[in-house]
Amino acid sequence: MKFFIDTANLNEIAEAQALGVLDGVTTNPSLMAKEGITGAENILAHYKKICDIVEGDVSAEVIATDFEGMVREGEQLASLHPQIVVKVPLIANGIKACKYFSDKGIKTNVTLVFSPGQALLAAKAGATYVSPFLGRLDDISTDGLHLIAEIRQIYDNYGFETQILSASIRHTMHVIDCAKIGSDVMTGPLSSIMGLLKHPLTDIGLAKFLEDFKKGN
Ligand code: E4P
Repeated sequence: MKFFIDTANLNEIAEAQALGVLDGVTTNPSLMAKEGITGAENILAHYKKICDIVEGDVSAEVIATDFEGMVREGEQLASLHPQIVVKVPLIANGIKACKYFSDKGIKTNVTLVFSPGQALLAAKAGATYVSPFLGRLDDISTDGLHLIAEIRQIYDNYGFETQILSASIRHTMHVIDCAKIGSDVMTGPLSSIMGLLKHPLTDIGLAKFLEDFKKGN
């Protein structure tokens, strides 16, 4: 299972990278705005900084919603750095753009996916990654994890190579549940990864080991 971090914060990306378990980064326009990164030039420069920190795929989202605009922006993003994955929304033009990019060998991440049918379309269009938003489904009293399981089943039925990138992860249990279902990738905040470290018996056990070591030395 690949671990992506869902942020545009360079410190958090560096911290996750330093832990040695980071496989990539996802961003979106809201995450860029949260870091105060505005204006096309600054945004492009920020993507490059992210690529300099991590070794894996970095999703960069198009803003255009028309096909030509998506292609123009996507090609510009892809030319920035070999690690860039062009992120397009699950709308008709996004599916067309996904097919266009996949035919050209440019990696894609189809985002804002909330149903199995949408995920099927993304796979048919040759998406590298599909991003079902499980936390946002949970937010409206709908079972986000069930969607991940449905997509897993559909992709396995036909051998689609599109990777399920479980997105909108909110906490550590989401990560574990996605791993049980067989999600290829998860993207979440740094806290969802760091939470995997925690167990009180680990802390108690380590304290005891250190205490016993001191007694003998
Ligand atoms: C995915 O690529 C999105 O950036 C993200 O996971 C959305 O998460 P949110 O629902 O917490 O905003």
